[in-house]
Amino acid sequence: MCGIVGYAGPRRVVPVILEGLRRLEYRGYDSAGVVYLQDGKLTKHRCQGKLSNLEAIIDEAILAPSHIGLGHTRWATHGAPTTENAHPHSDCSGDLVVVHNGIIENYHSLREELKARGHRFTSETDTEVLAHLIEENLQGDLVAAIRKSLDMVEGSYAIGVLWTGMPDTLIAARNQSPLVLGVGENQQGSFMASDIPALLPFTKDVIFLDDREFAVLTAGDCSVYSLVSGEKVEKNITTIVWNAAMAEKAGYKHFMLKEIFEQPQAITNTVSGRIDPESGQVDLPEIGLADHELNAIERIFLVACGTSWHAALVAKYWIEKYAGIPVEVDIASEFRYRTLLINEKVLTISISQSGETADTLAGIRLAKKLGGKVVTICNVVGSTMTREAHGTVYTHAGPEIGVASTKAFISQLAALFLLTLYLGQRRHVLSNEKSRELGRALIGIAEVVQDILPGLETRMSQLIDGFFSCRDFLFVGRGVNFPIALEGALKLKEISYIHAEGYAAGELKHGPIALIDKEMPVLALVPQDAVYQKVISNVEEIKARQGRLILIGTEGDGHLKTITDDVIYLPAVHEDLNPILYTIPAQLLAYAVAARRGCDVDQPRNLAKSVTVE
Ligand code: F6R
Repeated sequence: MCGIVGYAGPRRVVPVILEGLRRLEYRGYDSAGVVYLQDGKLTKHRCQGKLSNLEAIIDEAILAPSHIGLGHTRWATHGAPTTENAHPHSDCSGDLVVVHNGIIENYHSLREELKARGHRFTSETDTEVLAHLIEENLQGDLVAAIRKSLDMVEGSYAIGVLWTGMPDTLIAARNQSPLVLGVGENQQGSFMASDIPALLPFTKDVIFLDDREFAVLTAGDCSVYSLVSGEKVEKNITTIVWNAAMAEKAGYKHFMLKEIFEQPQAITNTVSGRIDPESGQVDLPEIGLADHELNAIERIFLVACGTSWHAALVAKYWIEKYAGIPVEVDIASEFRYRTLLINEKVLTISISQSGETADTLAGIRLAKKLGGKVVTICNVVGSTMTREAHGTVYTHAGPEIGVASTKAFISQLAALFLLTLYLGQRRHVLSNEKSRELGRALIGIAEVVQDILPGLETRMSQLIDGFFSCRDFLFVGRGVNFPIALEGALKLKEISYIHAEGYAAGELKHGPIALIDKEMPVLALVPQDAVYQKVISNVEEIKARQGRLILIGTEGDGHLKTITDDVIYLPAVHEDLNPILYTIPAQLLAYAVAARRGCDVDQPRNLAKSVTVE
């Protein structure tokens, strides 16, 4: 988490940095800061809270004729979200500044040593240690001082450093936290940022720094070196296909709503070109596994966090049913703390929008170390997971800015269904007829989502009149839709701050049913599928205890109307694809409730989109 931006070039630096930070604010918004060099002196502005607070105080600095600087938006780890703890952090002289994303694990002992040597600290952050450590090691050669300092540091970092002694140069370095460099077109300078969207208004040509690499950035050059050997590393320039407009609101009130409406396109982009629309045969060469390796797989681990973990839970149903491979689903932060029976016959698949989530990344690293094959399903091109996995199946959702994952989730489901078909076909467990049926159903689902979206949005904004001020909410589902109950509850709690839980409908009577009374809203997913009658029985149990039911079910199912007035009907689709369809009303419910409550929908409190700390 935290977003960093740096620029050296002919443009005025402050607007470039603010523009970049605006696009990184999803990474954290506890405080923001900017520093620039002008007439040999560093000027720093920092502020608690969002970037808008910083913009309000920065005023004339926006016009400063400076062409080199750094910026930061923070998600607090060490030290409260105050102005003092906001980055950039300076050394004692004030001539050297550092911005940082990550955690310096041995900061405490380093800080004590540096204090004993007379360094004066002004914040509670781990980052400030870096500024003083570099100062301590600086004897005229900034690169040497940074390399020596980073060698003494344990933990994760993406840093930007600016020193008055080298007024034309920024130094960037990374270990376990993302950092991407931008190569300006037509001599428009050099950039660094935590993520691609910050660079899109300026350049599409990027270089991904790898762990233990550093870069020396000047207006006309962007060179990369090994932190270990100091030797130059030849890097490829990647041209990004996203454009800046994709990271704008395009007239929607919130990014989240825009991204919900982009879901049909996200599905189509993820699916098209990978599946034959007639036969349903899937081609996924990017998975990076030969047929004999695919056929040898005995077990699959799906590893992910949060919403991506919910996608994994859905995929377990699909893969076991259609590819016949046993699947275990793990929350990434738990995965590596148990005994993992992994060998070359075990495939570990990470699912991640960002490709940078620290726990998920650690999970795939461990799986690889244990000799297993690793594939990642990921949205961000060039992210760390995609570079470390044996193969990557990209979701093509485009940049997701709202902190709550929506279109990334839907495109993960689409990619996982594709992967299921691919595994089933390659292992000859899926018949041609079934492939055709499922493939066509997958291709068709984008249009169904497109059709239901406008009406559902209107219906939801009316329906929540009676629910938006509730204290608690339950979501229930069964079978392949149980994970969607979990996802609905997560969406609601994270953006509206209403306490919400998702349950397997059949599990209610083993405890949670005690919560139900006439105040308790319960949203139940009741499509007419194989477990329909079972869920209806569970719904009756809730009704008998006066729970306030909202039912989401299949068009034409008149029975639902006899249970409650609050019914939302969705078209009938292939029952295994219901998770994609039934997610949409759950997202729109969360959105409508949060917007009605006046919550900060795109940047909920305490959260950050990319969780790069463990
Ligand atoms: C919730 C949400 C998070 C992420 C989780 C994993 O709406 O967005 O739960 O799903 O932090 O992030 P990625 O997918 O980037 O690994």
